[in-house]
Amino acid sequence: MKDWPDDDEALLELSEKGQKPHPQNYWSLRDAFEGVQVFGGTGSGKSSGSGQSLARAFLSSNLGGLVLTAKTDEAAAWREMAASEGRENDIIEVTHDGTYQFNFLRYELTRPGAGAGQVESLVNLFCAVLESAEKRQGNLGGGDAYWNRALRQLLRNSIDLAIMALEDVSLTSLYKIITTAPVTIEQVNDEDWRNNSVCFALIDTAKEKQLSPEKTKDLEIVEAYFLYEFAGLAQETRSVIVSTFTSMADCFLRGTLRKLFCEGLNYSPEDCFNGKIIILNLPVKEFNELGGFAQILFKYVWQRAVERRIPQGISREDAQATIRPVFLFADESQFFCNSNDALFQSTARSSRACTVYLTQNLPTYFSAFGGGNGRHETESFVANLQTKIAHSNGDPVTNLFIADSIGRTRQIQLSGGTSDGVSQLGKPNYNQTAGGNMVYEYPVQPAEFTTLETGGPDHDFFVGAIIFQGGRKWYPDGKSSRNYIRHKFPQKLS
Ligand SMILES: Nc1ncnc2c1ncn2[C@@H]1O[C@H](COP(=O)(O)OP(=O)(O)OP(=O)(O)O)[C@@H](O)[C@H]1O
Ligand SMILES: [Mg+2]
Repeated sequence: MKDWPDDDEALLELSEKGQKPHPQNYWSLRDAFEGVQVFGGTGSGKSSGSGQSLARAFLSSNLGGLVLTAKTDEAAAWREMAASEGRENDIIEVTHDGTYQFNFLRYELTRPGAGAGQVESLVNLFCAVLESAEKRQGNLGGGDAYWNRALRQLLRNSIDLAIMALEDVSLTSLYKIITTAPVTIEQVNDEDWRNNSVCFALIDTAKEKQLSPEKTKDLEIVEAYFLYEFAGLAQETRSVIVSTFTSMADCFLRGTLRKLFCEGLNYSPEDCFNGKIIILNLPVKEFNELGGFAQILFKYVWQRAVERRIPQGISREDAQATIRPVFLFADESQFFCNSNDALFQSTARSSRACTVYLTQNLPTYFSAFGGGNGRHETESFVANLQTKIAHSNGDPVTNLFIADSIGRTRQIQLSGGTSDGVSQLGKPNYNQTAGGNMVYEYPVQPAEFTTLETGGPDHDFFVGAIIFQGGRKWYPDGKSSRNYIRHKFPQKLS
């Protein structure tokens, strides 16, 4: 049963000070599907202002969703908002206690949909997580195609071997295969190694199975890879590839993350399609990079699930009537963004997903995207999130960026004045000038962002914002249009 709004019903009614809300300025699901990026300096009112308004709009509209957390108090804020919007029973709060477990490899092997259980989708999953982890640590840049390929090859062969020999794949088995693979060609014939290597034992086990002709060929490739190619790699090359894998796997193989992501499986992204809100309460500020890894991994799996949930060929009307919109909400999004987001956003409208990312400024993204390409990747990423909500900000790069997005308009700069003097003949000489120059000026000056209201009692608990949405015209007074609108978000909404 449809219990969510139509795509063009208002989620937010934006209006400028002193103006009544005009329907032309309503912001709907259709807009939300195009993505939202909120910018604002520390304490500018991102979380309590626009963030809260959007979150409540999604909750009260019965959307399903995924919430990533960076700060320790975010989950509690979501619980409170959900309760006051009547959604408390829809919350799945994943905490370190292990009540909710998501064995990601088992999920990927058994999940609904075509492509489930395919080796390549598991390889992609690993690489997505590794990529963001490595970039954050400033190691692999986007351009290291060789390492990327080599790592993918190792993963592909290890996963294939695990599935053929064990009919299952777990992080533990992958770890054992990779760390007991031969490191020299001579070792392959070494009795001692043969007796102790999990990699070798599994190749043997797989050979004894009744495999289909196709799988038998695959196994030959796997065997050749480990016993010749991998064993014959230069020592340094191999150790880089292996340690890229083990450094990530290590985190998931012990303690909290093992319990949460490698054991049971009692929730999944598909729950959101039935209206659940998954809160990953593993805040980066408390769990550090482990919290980041875990959330990036789940986000990736969730995004893939959202992308494949729409039946092919379904009409827009049928989709609107039968497929619940979902949201992805990340405050302090610099901890979670990666190059997959731009790809996800490009199909978000048809998959009915609303992404809301909040961060301080552009330079935080530059370093999050890392590598030599950080700036460029940030720009294409941010360009994909159509609605930009700018709060008070002291960062000149961001302020200029928003002012530039709004653009410059042709304005007449009036000039006028009189000059008087004395002519050579001693007669008084009056000159009057008046005129105008056509100049291109920012209608919103970059400096204006430094003066927006930041909430609290000084601003009657309202947070000022300037909102720009690619391709959209706003009608602040209901009549004349421009490409941005000012709005004040209330902090007190409960
Ligand atoms: N519910 C609330 N009611 C009133 N004031 C609040 C509320 N929440 C936060 N504030 C105050 O409003 C200001 C803006 O806070 P907020 O946490 O929303 O900023 P922020 O932009 O998210 O900052 P940060 O980058 O540090 O997360 C702060 O001074 C804060 O103390
Ligand atoms: Mg905040």
